[in-house]
Amino acid sequence: MLFAAPKLCRPAPRPEKRGVMAKKNPHLRAVVAPSPVIIAAAYDENGKADACTLALYTPISHRPPCVLIGINVTMRPRKTLGSILHSGAFTIGYPGEDQVTEADYIGVASGFDTDKLKDVGFTVSEGQTVHAPVINELRLTLECEVVHTVRVGSNIQITGEIKNILADEEILDGKGRVVLERLKPLIYDEEGFAYRHAGEPFAEPFRTGTEFMKQLEK
Ligand SMILES: Cc1cc2nc3c(=O)[nH]c(=O)nc-3n(C[C@H](O)[C@H](O)[C@H](O)COP(=O)(O)O)c2cc1C
Repeated sequence: MLFAAPKLCRPAPRPEKRGVMAKKNPHLRAVVAPSPVIIAAAYDENGKADACTLALYTPISHRPPCVLIGINVTMRPRKTLGSILHSGAFTIGYPGEDQVTEADYIGVASGFDTDKLKDVGFTVSEGQTVHAPVINELRLTLECEVVHTVRVGSNIQITGEIKNILADEEILDGKGRVVLERLKPLIYDEEGFAYRHAGEPFAEPFRTGTEFMKQLEK
């Protein structure tokens, strides 16, 4: 497990009967909220590091560990997409709350027009396992090899197999798991159009449902 399980001592919340409400049909869209904001980075054909901010991002396989990213091909061209496809590798870096300005800028400016990483004062190192730039200032980075690409609607969906994880010691617990309270990832809320905090833990996954299962069996 990459992320540390929070210590929760509160009892599991009990299911409560809730009145069923009439449903509305809001306009059709892919609701991506809430989603962690990441910065994908890859080298272009000249060896220059490109990077763009993404919210279309999700873990998709535990073994081998894989993630999915979605990059739009119907709107303004993303230079980073070409670099990922060209090099067959990319990194996923997690900006912290204190890096919101850098992350947002990297998501609005384009590598076609400027050297964004230089503009925000970010530096890069070569990945340890893949030929892709690691943004040194980001506290958590996944080094990924492209294993699959497919067009899905407006986007190219890229599956990356994680080959290595780089984490600053300060965000890890004693077992080498990432502590969210230390990473402070940016959460993108497309519905509310806001960056949000990751929020407090309030219940324990798998145990909450298992406890209820035991109560049903009594
Ligand atoms: C919060 C945020 C989330 C974004 N998510 C995505 C995304 O998931 N997919 C995408 O194609 N573009 C996304 N973008 C837009 C790209 O980051 C943007 O087009 C960027 O300028 C591309 O840079 P490049 O041309 O240097 O690759 C996002 C931007 C922001 C600010």
